[in-house]
Amino acid sequence: MDRLRGKSALITGAARGIGAAFAHAYAREGATVAVADLDLEASRRTAEAIGPSAYAVQVDVTRQDSIDAALAAVLDRAGGLDILVNNAGVYDMDPVTAMTRSSFDRLFSVNVAGTLFMLQAAARAMIAQGRGGKIINLASQAGRRGEPLSPIYCATKAAVISLTQSAGLDLIRHRINVNGIAPGVIESDMWDHVDALFARHEGRPLGEKKRLVGEAVPFGRMGVPEDLAGMAVFLASAEADYIVAQTYNVDGGNWMS
Ligand SMILES: NC(=O)c1ccc[n+]([C@@H]2O[C@H](COP(=O)([O-])OP(=O)(O)OC[C@H]3O[C@@H](n4cnc5c(N)ncnc54)[C@H](O)[C@@H]3O)[C@@H](O)[C@H]2O)c1
Repeated sequence: MDRLRGKSALITGAARGIGAAFAHAYAREGATVAVADLDLEASRRTAEAIGPSAYAVQVDVTRQDSIDAALAAVLDRAGGLDILVNNAGVYDMDPVTAMTRSSFDRLFSVNVAGTLFMLQAAARAMIAQGRGGKIINLASQAGRRGEPLSPIYCATKAAVISLTQSAGLDLIRHRINVNGIAPGVIESDMWDHVDALFARHEGRPLGEKKRLVGEAVPFGRMGVPEDLAGMAVFLASAEADYIVAQTYNVDGGNWMS
């Protein structure tokens, strides 16, 4: 409790799934949390479930005007910004021979450009405040190595790891720590979508891929969003002040690096 007391946090893609779990955890630790998402109604429901320390903000991380408006709303409402979590992300599945430019553009626009330009806007605000800050990017085990059916998604998450390194090295002189989390397989709407895509591409019954990937995790099951919350709180807290440009695996043992 209280590890984020008095801090203002902005979490993208926080209406549901991993981002919503982080919003609950940050509020429990004393932060004021902007639950930012494309889906404003869902953001409002999540913010209401958290209570008075959370509020909904609409953001489309693929649009600069929307990023700027979301930042302005947070600075206006909370009086500053101490923590950004770049969590909004999208997934698609197609092997190299079938993938399309529209899928490439959408995934890179949300997962890479969205992360980079949210990070830029937040860093500018944090530098102007002059009290440092924490930026946490959601990568993935998919950014550690390629996968035959998701070349574009894997490339976007490798890019997130790389951006975390470059921005982390640049911004630490302003006492802004940029770090990342690489989850493994986590129960969420996104993984239901992944499972349905595997069913189509591999001719499996719905739910089978989820069961198999869960059984393959050394911990013995898929993760749930709350399994990542401890790392998200730690990286946002003063305990992580000396951690710079790292991406941590939180995946039940799937990947070692
Ligand atoms: N679920 C997993 O197994 C897993 C594993 C590794 C990494 N991740 C990453 O974690 C993050 C969260 O994943 P999740 O499983 O909770 O996903 P999810 O699909 O359940 O939630 C993603 C949220 O992002 C929002 N969003 C999508 N596009 C947006 C945009 N342009 N602007 C603003 N918000 C937008 C959606 O509305 C949604 O609320 C993603 O970056 C994902 O790639 C997830």
